[in-house]
Amino acid sequence: MFSKYKKEKTAMPAALDAPTDKVAPKQTPQEVPAKTLMRKAAPAAPAQVTPIDKERKRKERMGEIKLDLHRVLLDNLNLSALEHATEQDLRQEISAIASEHLQAQSIVLNREDRQTLTSELYDEVTGLGPLETLLKDDTVNDILVNGPQQIFVERDGNLELSDITFKDERHLLRIIDKIVSAVGRRVDESNPYVDARLKDGSRFNAMVPPVAVDGSLVSIRKFKKDKLGIDDLVQFGAFTEEMAAYLQAAVATRLNVIVSGGTGSGKTTTLNALSSFIDNSERILTIEDTAELQLQQTHVGRMESRPPNVEGKGEVSPRDCLKNALRMRPDRIIVGETRGEEVIDMLQAMNTGHDGSMTTIHANSARDGISRLENMIAMAGIEMPLKAVRSQISSAVNLIVQASRLQDGSRRMTSITEITGMEGEVISMQEIFRYQRVGLTPDNKIIGHFTATGVRSAYAERFRLWGYDLPASIYEPIAAQ
Ligand SMILES: Nc1ncnc2c1ncn2[C@@H]1O[C@H](COP(=O)(O)OP(=O)(O)OP(=O)(O)O)[C@@H](O)[C@H]1O
Ligand SMILES: [Mg+2]
Repeated sequence: MFSKYKKEKTAMPAALDAPTDKVAPKQTPQEVPAKTLMRKAAPAAPAQVTPIDKERKRKERMGEIKLDLHRVLLDNLNLSALEHATEQDLRQEISAIASEHLQAQSIVLNREDRQTLTSELYDEVTGLGPLETLLKDDTVNDILVNGPQQIFVERDGNLELSDITFKDERHLLRIIDKIVSAVGRRVDESNPYVDARLKDGSRFNAMVPPVAVDGSLVSIRKFKKDKLGIDDLVQFGAFTEEMAAYLQAAVATRLNVIVSGGTGSGKTTTLNALSSFIDNSERILTIEDTAELQLQQTHVGRMESRPPNVEGKGEVSPRDCLKNALRMRPDRIIVGETRGEEVIDMLQAMNTGHDGSMTTIHANSARDGISRLENMIAMAGIEMPLKAVRSQISSAVNLIVQASRLQDGSRRMTSITEITGMEGEVISMQEIFRYQRVGLTPDNKIIGHFTATGVRSAYAERFRLWGYDLPASIYEPIAAQ
């Protein structure tokens, strides 16, 4: 075996802790008493581990061989020399070490298995181990790891259990550590959770034991190189052509827009798509925790806030970025998500000449979104009477767009609501479009359609003056078929 990257023999590191493989308790099916038959049968567990079959056994065996080989590789490869190795060299080296080990152990593998093994080992040594396959899979949106033995993935809005696993908690921790140390962070018992951005731009969050009770928890939002645009979203049924025309008018005429929605409902995607309606001549500044937005315009300044380092220093909060952004002569400011004290500066920016600013918030409806804003202001320690807070919100925000992930996994813009002012102490709103649900198909797909509510936009005249003369017909409700 040639050994350009082989390291000098050193003592084997002692194992840190024992594998934490746990066997899930078996569930016994329960008898359904006759009188409960009115109820629908409880849905099958969404993701059952498939019964042990031949294929699974083969995979397990491969897994064991891989782990064994991985240990051999780590013992034999000079990791510091790897940085300068070409991919081809490294693959050859891994393949040579693997062949030698397999031969020594009298393990015979077919050509295909050997190739898979080498490429998995390559991922393990240079990349993120088992996660690599999922990161490369374009159909996967989210990767959710619940301890070493359970990796869920989200495809088309639905969560499914993947057949990929880590060997044990130590293996998982090693990969987490690799990710966070690459961005100069640390995660351990005293800093049990961390945010990071993977090399490919994906958003990464990890929480390790003992705060994570059954093993480390990892959540990855995959970065899509080709973000979904307005046309894609219309085509996927996220909203209609009429709604797109309305949103275009709203963004182009510089209304301040908030995209509200639950977690993973498509807020960032919607915000990104809406930004395509901004004129190319405008200077846009974006502020995010993890840079996800991909604006098409030429004149864009991107900022990423930063948590404190391990000594608790160096934090640059979203609010710091926002305050600084106001000194950078922006035409519009886009804040990836407003969740804390930056709300004050965001509302002020919206009120003071940065019309057309946009952000997202976590809320389940437009009304709920307003309450969230009120709460954020209160939490920021601003002593202001509620009426003043509300009047500040109502004059800053023009439009709330609600994004939702429905129970069948589809993502839709379920409501577009305008804020029209104050009536006494209450913020008045009018819904212009909504998604009307009418039922459920036998296979649990939602039946519904988008409709206007019949209310004409309060900004119709503004749209007309800016050259976006929308036909009155787009405000007409559509009757259910
Ligand atoms: N209408 C849609 N149709 C299909 N996929 C969508 C749609 N909208 C968003 N997605 C996909 O869903 C995933 C989640 O979207 P996004 O990141 O926009 O959600 P989010 O609400 O910002 O989530 P978070 O709360 O975690 O920030 C992404 O992978 C995105 O590509
Ligand atoms: Mg988001």
